[in-house]
Amino acid sequence: MAICQSCGEENPERARFCHACGAELAEPVSAGEERKVVSVLFVDLVGFTDRSDRADPEDVRATLRPYHQRVKADIERFGGTVEKFIGDAVMAVFGAPVAHEDDAERAVRSALRILETIQELRAEGLDVAVRAAVTTGEAVVALGARPERGEGIVAGDVVNTAARLQSAAAVGTVIVDETTVRSAESAIAFEPLEPVAAKGKVEPIPVWRVVQARSRVGEAETATRTPFVGREHERAVLLETFLRVERESAPQLVTVVGEPGVGKSRLVTELRSTLDDRPEVVGWRHGRCPPYGEGITFWALGEVVKAEAGILESDDQVEAAVKLEQAVAALVDDPSEREWFASRLAPLAGVDVEGGAIGRDEAFTAWRRFLEAMADKRPLVFVVEDLHWADEALLDFLEHLVDWAAPVPLIVLSTARPELYDRRPGWSGGKRNATTIALSPLSSEETARLLQGLLERALLPADTQASILERAGGNPLYTEQFARMLVERGEGGELVLPETVQALIAARLDTLSPELKTLLHDASVVGRIFWTGAVAAIGQRGRDEVLAGLRELVRRELIRPARVSSVTGDEEFSIWHALVRDVAYQQIPRAPRARKHAAAAAWIEETAQERVADHAEILVHHYEQALELSRAAGEERPDLERALAGFLVLAGDRAMRLDIGAAEAAYRRALELSA
Ligand SMILES: Nc1ncnc2c1ncn2[C@@H]1O[C@H](COP(=O)(O)OP(=O)(O)OP(=O)(O)O)[C@@H](O)[C@H]1O
Ligand SMILES: [Mg+2]
Repeated sequence: MAICQSCGEENPERARFCHACGAELAEPVSAGEERKVVSVLFVDLVGFTDRSDRADPEDVRATLRPYHQRVKADIERFGGTVEKFIGDAVMAVFGAPVAHEDDAERAVRSALRILETIQELRAEGLDVAVRAAVTTGEAVVALGARPERGEGIVAGDVVNTAARLQSAAAVGTVIVDETTVRSAESAIAFEPLEPVAAKGKVEPIPVWRVVQARSRVGEAETATRTPFVGREHERAVLLETFLRVERESAPQLVTVVGEPGVGKSRLVTELRSTLDDRPEVVGWRHGRCPPYGEGITFWALGEVVKAEAGILESDDQVEAAVKLEQAVAALVDDPSEREWFASRLAPLAGVDVEGGAIGRDEAFTAWRRFLEAMADKRPLVFVVEDLHWADEALLDFLEHLVDWAAPVPLIVLSTARPELYDRRPGWSGGKRNATTIALSPLSSEETARLLQGLLERALLPADTQASILERAGGNPLYTEQFARMLVERGEGGELVLPETVQALIAARLDTLSPELKTLLHDASVVGRIFWTGAVAAIGQRGRDEVLAGLRELVRRELIRPARVSSVTGDEEFSIWHALVRDVAYQQIPRAPRARKHAAAAAWIEETAQERVADHAEILVHHYEQALELSRAAGEERPDLERALAGFLVLAGDRAMRLDIGAAEAAYRRALELSA
């Protein structure tokens, strides 16, 4: 059945025009639209058009082909999508269809990479130069779009601004807008420029030039100034585990698990500073599993080998090979074995060796023995950061390592987000020498202390503090970002969601299948607390199916079940973080959002039955949203107006006993609607 958006008449499914009022019936909204924060990259060839006026079109095409191919590769390497080539300009999108938590950084890195490519092309004799711009902001994303067929992925102001800024950039540079700077400044160095006046904008746009990408080396060791709070128990467990490994020479695998920003890496850093305070020397090697890039199988392990050998990224093959040999010689006593080790470690360290491919078992054995030899010299903490991004092969190796390690003081200390268990449900389970430390959110009291430490003063206005505590939900990263925003923008303004947090959450939501994501969207319309029945009603799905999906979301730490439900016979859940709810909610385009609110209201009315008056306020909220959003989408909805007016009266009746002012306001609005 198709509901007419103009008059609310029910029409048969096949109808294209409404039987009652003749309005065109809207196409059902395809699954494929979402509001998202994306980064847009514009790159333009400079001076090429002039020349191509005079050149033969075939020559132009031939000249541009290698340029297009290389630029496309540079964009895709960082997870971007080429939206279109407009003559000699290229537009690319980062963050759509799939968001990453660092899309702004990726866009800028890929722009820098393109500048390098241009240098290479020039060296090859192609006379080209480019300028580029990156902007970040909210856009409407067509999820099913096929850019290879010329279909646009994103639309919004962020695209126009990127095009404008690009034309204002100096040749050979990349300029970016403020949101991009805020999102990427921990990874990229920027320098402010004069604001750019742009057509269609009242105010000039503040811009920055990209100076360079900051090196990631030593990243994990940068001291944080935020004073550490809480986690006494987890710290004790970790330290005790290490001491036992050291005492008994019994290798252990420790996995610290928790949602992004909850403090996994920080806990590891804390262990390190504790151990640094002791007189005994502990070997400490850090391997990361990066979220992007190619050919990085075993990257984390490669980092360890490189660090042990002192190999730098800037070393050439010969230097690297020599350093690797020396490192092996220092650890392996038997000279006849050194060659064997070196050739098996070489691929990890990016050193070319002759000879055929090495079997996996043999490689694993060599790597394990290398780590054992390191641990044999002095206790070794092998940190593997962000295991959820590890390739399968690395996970296999780590299992091999802890299953087979000789009795040496070796602790494999890994950090992972819960999605690790999607790929390896049984990770570290059932092993005698494995421990899991699950980090839950900080308590309110701890978060308040953290906030105080961050703001370097004791008191915030009570409501600002309460609002931050509520939204941060015990997540130290969110707390930090809110504190930073307060410091930068001053108090008083509305507390908006920091871009970094938004990006982090959006990236997490994009790892969900479309069905699960829609479930979460539907739930977010109901509110932070919701019920299986409500979600089933909004999405017109079966309860069992919905419940199965919700259980999956629980496993991913996006929602959690309530112990006792406030609706009999219906399971109650809450969204883990207020912010997860906000981000999910904001992703829903206006028209479906309106429909979902109306459906949520209908469900509440039906569930509450004769006690519906008790729910008048919440019904007012849903009908209000539905109405406002429909109006914004240009629809008249007299049915919603009627419903809203009715519940405003009920809400007014309820308020009479508590708050006359509120009651009056409700009645007045009801009157306005019925007028
Ligand atoms: N207990 C704590 N006390 C004070 N600050 C903390 C605490 N835990 C974490 N932080 C701070 O919060 C921020 C986020 O923490 P951290 O980087 O350890 O998160 P994470 O769990 O490793 O996240 P991700 O999954 O993104 O790697 C850091 O700046 C860290 O210093
Ligand atoms: Mg971390």
